[in-house]
This record gives sequence, structure tokens and C-alpha cells, in this order.
Amino acid sequence: MCGIVGYVGHRRILPVLLDGLKRLEYRGYDSAGVAWPENGDVKRVRAKGKLNVLEDALEDFRSTKSSVGLGHTRWATHGRPTEENAHPHCDCTGRLVVVHNGIIENYFPLREQLKEEGHTFRSDTDTEVLAHLIEKYLEDDLEKAVMRALKDVEGAYALGVLWAEQPEMLIAARKQSPLVLGLSENECFMASDIPALLPYTKRVIFLDDGELAVLKAGSLKIVSLDDGKILDKEVQEIKWDAGMAEKAGYKHFMLKEIYEQPDAILNTFRGRMEPETGKVELPEIELSTDVIRRLNKVVLLACGTSWHAGLVGKYWIEKWARLPVEVELASEFRYRDLLLDENSLTIPISQSGETADTLAGLRIAKELGSSIISICNVVGSTITRESDGTVYTHAGPEIGVASTKAFTSQLTAIYLLALYLAQQRGTLDHSQISVKLKGLLDIPRIVQDRLKAWHNDASSLADEFYTYSDFLYLGRHLQFPIALEGALKLKEISYIHAEGYAAGEMKHGPIALIDRNMPVVALVPQDHVYEKMVSNVEEVKSRRGIVISVGVEGDEGLQRLSHFMVSVPKVAPELNPFIFTIPLQLVAYEIALARGCDVDQPRNLAKSVTVE
Ligand code: M6R
Repeated sequence: MCGIVGYVGHRRILPVLLDGLKRLEYRGYDSAGVAWPENGDVKRVRAKGKLNVLEDALEDFRSTKSSVGLGHTRWATHGRPTEENAHPHCDCTGRLVVVHNGIIENYFPLREQLKEEGHTFRSDTDTEVLAHLIEKYLEDDLEKAVMRALKDVEGAYALGVLWAEQPEMLIAARKQSPLVLGLSENECFMASDIPALLPYTKRVIFLDDGELAVLKAGSLKIVSLDDGKILDKEVQEIKWDAGMAEKAGYKHFMLKEIYEQPDAILNTFRGRMEPETGKVELPEIELSTDVIRRLNKVVLLACGTSWHAGLVGKYWIEKWARLPVEVELASEFRYRDLLLDENSLTIPISQSGETADTLAGLRIAKELGSSIISICNVVGSTITRESDGTVYTHAGPEIGVASTKAFTSQLTAIYLLALYLAQQRGTLDHSQISVKLKGLLDIPRIVQDRLKAWHNDASSLADEFYTYSDFLYLGRHLQFPIALEGALKLKEISYIHAEGYAAGEMKHGPIALIDRNMPVVALVPQDHVYEKMVSNVEEVKSRRGIVISVGVEGDEGLQRLSHFMVSVPKVAPELNPFIFTIPLQLVAYEIALARGCDVDQPRNLAKSVTVE
């Protein structure tokens, strides 16, 4: 996730771009840059770090009279956060620049081909490929060249292009990454999101996938990327205020992030798997097949929600790659006498990449000779810098303190990693991997289809249960970690005491707690432990407990046992963690809301725990 702004009109360009970027900073903030036409050329200024660094770097250019330009605030996916990797990126001449949000999946072969054709690359980004590709097709018409270049591109993009030879216009295009155009008298804007436009206009056009726009001060043309036909798009009037707009109309970042999960999951597996052939591609893991085959142990190392993702990963890795897996709380791991060596693989999992305990654990594992492949959301963070390789989750910045989309993206990354290990070790064949990848491919759509219904259920549940002060979450097998995660979500944002338990452990203690004052949230997929789970529900019921179940739609038996049932679709058992997690996030959110809690910034908590 990155932020793009573009402007063509009559205002001085720098204040418009900087103001727009500030409003989009929530989309990424590891580096930023702007470009504008000047004296027959394009001037480009970029800086690593937050926007204020760019602002300082622009001090000498304040007097520019240009009223056309592009800006970008970056959340790195390919290439570290450095000035060289900051957007805008340019072609060989430096006279054509591109800003981009998304992931170009085939950037590597394109880059190799363009290099062979004589293009010189100056960054590690996928985006730079776009600039050179457009340059390759450019004669005298930028619009035509962009149309042609995009035919070679696979992946997701929202992009803005500026060329010194046609300095009165910008080109925008979109496929699977957001881009909105703003219209006002003799001026046009483009932006990744509405907040950047609101100070200037409320009249917008949302670009759809496969569309390209030509923006000039007094005109706007939108065409189909397929056949170049001019499209007649509806202008919409935005009714949000600036605060609402930053959260895309959602009340809280947490809710927005819950709703972003279909995209976050998709972006995390995009370009890394071939469901038809059953292949997983993770070039970021530079371990030879020999090393992978010699592994004697995998350690998943994390804190909090990331630890829960690790607990799920253990089941997948053990089952598919046939490797013993330990899942370690980093704060405990770092003080143990560890049995690790060069045949072990340690996988630190961290959204932020800065969690102090996880980092300390990583360093110890490394010293003992273990290979380190991290799973992380923040490119260039300390954990990624100290790892031998990183499988990035592409969830975009997560602002809400309660981790939501980062968790399901971590699940996605671990799912792929587990299959990758199985592929390299030969413990699953391609047809078996293919089935699992096809299942994952469907998850974003399934989640998207259900979000609204789950949200409605969560809000009804909250109405009834928000005054309770204790909850027990029960799950078995893959749903045990999800029970832990559901309980953690509830306690951290609503301050309600909630415990997650392996359902089979109930009769070893927690069953004593069950009464009418402690609702039990039971996770009951139709898997190989279904009957056991139903027995647990019966046990709760017979002790006059209140059962809130999450179960497969049409499960009438479970429905009868439940005071309230949230229905989920039936998916392959290994995919249940994705499906069962999201309703629980929404339940926690709605209960916290009903209790008047500060959902995005719960008391006593920090987004990133960088101290012990
Ligand atoms: O950035 P990390 O993933 O390393 O953070 C780990 C935990 O601090 C984090 O998951 C925390 O538990 C969240 N607040 C949970 O919602």
C-alpha cells in the first residue's frame, strides 16, 4: 500500500502535492518523493523517511511555478526504504517519471529483458520496470505508450505518469489498486484515496480496473485499456468529512483493516503461486533444496497475535513438510537453553519487524547457527535486515493497535511457506499442492462475500453480550490458536476478561468456571474433530452455560445447541483459520464499540513493542 497524488491545473504544485501526501501518509511512510516539469525537463526530489524529510529537501524549490506534478508516499514491497527506491521512478532519460501503488508480478523477467535491450536500472523496485517499459514504446504520444506498455504487465497497479515532452498532462491507470480522480474548475487531481482531494473538491470519479485517464487542466478523458474506447464515467459527490475520509468512511482504522482483509490476503499470495501447476515461488528464501531437505527442526518465533499465527503454521508445516515445529513465545525463548544448530530453521513472525523480544530471539538463534527466514509486514525493518531472507506480508500499514489484517496475511505467508517447504522436500507432489493453492485462491472472494453478514451478526451479538465481564473461547486443532486470537482481540480492545482454551482441556479445569455469567464462544468447523467439539458444546450446555458458536452454515444440530450461531461457509479444513478468525475480530470490535472503548488506541497498549 502506497499513496499517490497527482495534479494538473493552476495552483502551485508543491503545496498541493505535499498536502495530498500528508493526507495519505497513513498508506505508507518509509520514503516519499515528488516530480514536476521544469524548463523542458522533469525535476524529481525524493527522500527516505517521513514526509517532513521530503519537505526539508524541497526547501530550495519552493518558488517553482509549475502547476503539474506527481507525488508518492511509499510503503515498501520490493526493495528497501531508501532514497533510490523512493518514487517517482524514471526512465533512462530521466524525463519520464512514474509513481505506482501495487505489485508488478512479472517485474523480474521484464527487468531482465529491458536490461538486455539496453535500459539502465537504478533501483530495486518493481515500479522502475514500468518507467522503462513505457520508454520502450514511447514515440510521440505518452497515452499510446502507456497503453502498450501495460499490455506486457501482470499484477496490480495504480499509476501516474508524467513526461517532459507533454508537460501539460498526466496519465493515470488502474488495475486492482485504488485510484480516484478529482474534478474542479480547470483542474484535475488523482489520488490513491479521497482524503487527498477533499480540500479541493468533492466531485470525484473512481477509476475502475482496466481504465486509463488523461488528465489536463481543462479536460479529462477516460479510456478502456482493452480497446482504447472512450468511457463515459459517472461523477460522484463525496459526503465524507476529512476524518471519515482518512478511514475510507469507516468509523475506525480497525474496522477498515478488517474489511481490507480480502485484499491483504490476495496481495500476500499474489505472484507467489501457480495454482494450476501446483507451484509455490518464494525466491526470497535463498536456502538450497539440500539445506531444506537437511532441516531437522523449524522454530516459529513471535509475540502476541503473530505468535497465534505461528501456532496455526505449526499444523501446516508438520502436516505438509513433515518437519518438527516448535512455536515459541519470543520473551520465553530468549532466556532458554536452546537446542538449535545449522540444520534448524527459525522463522520470526512480526507485523512491525521491530518487536524487541522477537528480535532478541532471532539474534540468539542466528548465533547458534540456525537459518533465519522472517515473515514481516514492514520492509526494511530491523528483523528483516537481520534475517537471511524475508517473506513479506503485503497487508499495507496497519494503524489499529489490534492486529487484524496483519494476522490473516501472516497466515497466508505461512501457508505458502509450509507448502514451499513441502515442495522442496518432496513431501507433497504438485497435484496435492495445487489443491491447497486453489483453496487459498478462493479465500479473498469468500471473505469478501461474507464480511457484511458477519458484521451484522457481530453487532447483534454485541447488543446482547457487551455487559458481560468474562468470556471463554474454545477450539480444537487449527481452531485452538484462533480461540486464543479471538480472546486476545476481545480483551485488548474491550477490556473484558477473555480466555482462549483448547476445548479438550476444558474438563481439566476451566469447566469449573462455566455458568450463566460466562458466555462460551465455541469454534466448530466440520473437520476431523467435529464430534469432539460438539461434545464440548454439550458439556457447556448441560452446565447452563451460554453457547455462542461459530459453525458451518446449515449445521442444524449445532444451531440447536447454540444460543447464537455465526455461520461460516464450508471450506477445506486447512483453510478454516482464515474463515473463523474474521467473525471473531468483528465481535471484539462491536463489543468494544458498545462499551465505548477507544478501539484504535486501547489503553496501555502500543502498536509496536520495542522494549522488553
Ligand atoms: O509487530 P509484531 O507482530 O511483532 O507485534 C507482536 C504483538 O505485539 C502484536 O501482535 C500484539 O499482540 C497486537 N496488539 C495484537 O493485536
